[in-house]
Amino acid sequence: MSGQRSDDADDIVRDAVERFAGDHRVLFEAFAEAEHVALNRASWNQAPLNHNSHKGDQAEALRRGEDPLFPEELELLGDLDGVSVAHLQCNAGQDSLGLALRGAAVTGIDLSDTAIEFARELSGKTGIPATFVRDEILSWTHATDERFDVAFASYGVLGWNRDLGAWMRGAHRVLKPGGRLVIMEFHPVVWSLGQTLALTGDDYFAPGPFAEPVSDYVAETLDRDPLPNEHVAHGFQHSLAEIVQAVVDAGLQLRTLREYPHSNYARLSPGLVAGPDRTWVFPQGKARIPLMFGLVADRPTNEA
Ligand SMILES: C[S@@+](CC[C@H](N)C(=O)[O-])C[C@H]1O[C@@H](n2cnc3c(N)ncnc32)[C@H](O)[C@@H]1O
Repeated sequence: MSGQRSDDADDIVRDAVERFAGDHRVLFEAFAEAEHVALNRASWNQAPLNHNSHKGDQAEALRRGEDPLFPEELELLGDLDGVSVAHLQCNAGQDSLGLALRGAAVTGIDLSDTAIEFARELSGKTGIPATFVRDEILSWTHATDERFDVAFASYGVLGWNRDLGAWMRGAHRVLKPGGRLVIMEFHPVVWSLGQTLALTGDDYFAPGPFAEPVSDYVAETLDRDPLPNEHVAHGFQHSLAEIVQAVVDAGLQLRTLREYPHSNYARLSPGLVAGPDRTWVFPQGKARIPLMFGLVADRPTNEA
């Protein structure tokens, strides 16, 4: 591992050394996990700088009433007035502020220093209140004393985590009894699509890690020249069945599962064409597969 180890990575290793008890697998797994986190933190420190450079004055856009959120997640989230929300892997906070504008008390958590710095700045400039925490998601969800009505995660979140079971148990842990997990995510099958929408991308059943820098997908979506990111990140594939199974195994009760034939905002393949309202769709006549899925799962009310 390079000299750029994060405090998250050190914490993961320190915790494993405490749990070691002669079982070397504990240490091997912790070193692998620490390496992913350190690499991903470096790559996700560059990505928001690239992405935000294409987005113009975002405080002004929010003041004008531009809504960063989409109808699909809003439908699954329901009424947000007075609701406490943990926004898991919130990135640069635009969507978190969209939730806060609807009356939610939002805490956004993210690994990226630059994303959280930008989120705090955007909150300050717009006067839209929200709390932003710079932390690794498993470290935070498994340690915080706070409990929320809603845990929300969206658009490119699960694939950065190797241990999906731990992610879901963390989400369950931060919910109050009766609280709900809401996920709006790119469908895992989309990573199998190639440039021309043929199945020339990644194998749906290959778990990864897939090593590549976090791309400048904002430039790709807006048809601009992508900016470089020299930091390789590690991504992981989780099939839809694995995601649903992890939800159930974490003790959450699945209430809603949806699939959508379009993607919001991100052009996931150059073969997709622009649809209405900031969406990307399959060209007319092409057989479609789902590009996003949405999920709601409840923490049972009778749990302490
Ligand atoms: C594609 S972005 C999510 C977009 C976000 N939902 C939004 O509202 O803009 C993925 C985010 O996951 C974060 N991330 C990746 N691994 C993480 C981890 N282990 N802990 C916390 N955040 C992580 C990245 O820093 C990045 O901001």
